[in-house]
Amino acid sequence: PETGCLSIIVLGASGDLAKKKTFPALFNLYCQGFLPPDEVYIFGYARTKISDDDLRNRIRGYLVNDRSASPSEDASKFLQLIQYVSGSYDGAEGFQLLDKEITKHEISKSSQEGSSRRLFYLALPPSVYPSVCRMIRKYCMNKSDLGGWTRIVVEKPFGKDLDSAEQLSSQIGELFDEPQIYRIDHYLGKELVQNLLVLRFANRFFLPLWNRDNIDNVQIVFREDFGTEGRGGYFDEYGIIRDIIQNHLLQVLCLVAMEKPVSLKPERIRDEKVKVLQSVLPIKDEEVVLGQYEGYRDDPTVPNHSNTPTFATVILRIHNERWEGVPFILKAGKALNSRKAEIRVQFKDVPGDIFKCQKQGRNEFVIRLQPSEAMYMKLTVSSLVHNSTSLDLPACVKQPGLEMSTVQSELDLSYRQRYQGVTIPEAYERLILDTIRGDQQHFVRRDELKAAWEIFTPLLHRIDNGEMKPIPYRTGSRGPAEADELSAKAGYVQTHGYIWIPPTL
Ligand code: BG6
Repeated sequence: PETGCLSIIVLGASGDLAKKKTFPALFNLYCQGFLPPDEVYIFGYARTKISDDDLRNRIRGYLVNDRSASPSEDASKFLQLIQYVSGSYDGAEGFQLLDKEITKHEISKSSQEGSSRRLFYLALPPSVYPSVCRMIRKYCMNKSDLGGWTRIVVEKPFGKDLDSAEQLSSQIGELFDEPQIYRIDHYLGKELVQNLLVLRFANRFFLPLWNRDNIDNVQIVFREDFGTEGRGGYFDEYGIIRDIIQNHLLQVLCLVAMEKPVSLKPERIRDEKVKVLQSVLPIKDEEVVLGQYEGYRDDPTVPNHSNTPTFATVILRIHNERWEGVPFILKAGKALNSRKAEIRVQFKDVPGDIFKCQKQGRNEFVIRLQPSEAMYMKLTVSSLVHNSTSLDLPACVKQPGLEMSTVQSELDLSYRQRYQGVTIPEAYERLILDTIRGDQQHFVRRDELKAAWEIFTPLLHRIDNGEMKPIPYRTGSRGPAEADELSAKAGYVQTHGYIWIPPTL
């Protein structure tokens, strides 16, 4: 690995994202030895005029690490690495000062090994990305005589539709080359999302089954059991499709549906993701159900007549040899009855099934992204309980005595149980480490982003124009009943009477 001076500059240091995600992720990396204090220095930059200590005190409470033996001591040492610089996001002065401070630190550490690695993390609203990037480009690039690099980390929303996203991409693209730009989608940093490629391409089990001949439908689901609390203003401008589906769920879809890349090189993987996105057919209105939870508009920052969906089910269809005819049902909602994210691959019925009238449901392979990370395969086995009615078996097997009957069970790989004592790293932690190492595999490439917007832009415009309306649903419910009806129409068969329970230790 590279050594020498590394400066991590968090722009928007006093904001929410920095406080809740960026600094805690840096802290965790520090605790694990990935940010050696003799090489690394962290800068916070924002407009507010505060002191170094003010910033440190603001973030201290968010630094938790259950892997550290002495967390508060580690937190204090970590905070000492942070220096604060205040300045505007579009003026030369602040960025010249920032450059001076970074350079000072690079010179003071250059006795070890000259290197000027500069990682700029834009924890900022995208409206200021172009001006901030211009300023960095002009005043804060790494010192070429010392070697090293300059990288920029940005996060969604990357625009609101195809045109605005392309505009943003070209503004940034004029200043930085693609290998310098890291577009974060934090779902790509989640353990079970990172596992998808290994799972699919390193296991003989899945290879022959992963196609239209065997799979009936795929669901990718995100549910939250709370509303837009405190974020109504932001959320109302974007809605659930831009907030979750167009990025997080679509990225997951790519990894579920893509062909095998020719190698594990990040560019080869991203090439395959782009191909899948380009094979998605235009979305049909009748394959969309939108919802808005009752009470959403009570938020004072949300307009009284808001048409913004807080729930959506959208069916995507991939027009290629592997997936023709298999619906990919993407579903996301706020203020629902549970919090979870999962991928549910449902297989077709067994042909010529001699157990048909006794069966509870189809085979499913479920990848539970969170919480209680797990993978489990739902399969039919013969039942130990022969005369129970509680299993909700079809009438034909509810017979007393030693009759043959079947039941839905599972092969379960639950992470907490299987990997006891191992802490699963936070998504941001991994992704920041990737940016330091220069690995772009888990970041969204410009052409990928464009293809993602191409899929959703027509639908989003119809919603923005009020041509499609969300159906009201109760807070704490499953969302509009119409969404379940749509999934059923697309072929999804719900298993009644079966609930997966995460194993306890
Ligand atoms: C963010 C969305 O990208 O992801 C939020 O803007 C959402 O609305 C969050 O709550 C969910 O992330 P996670 O990691 O908690 O599933």
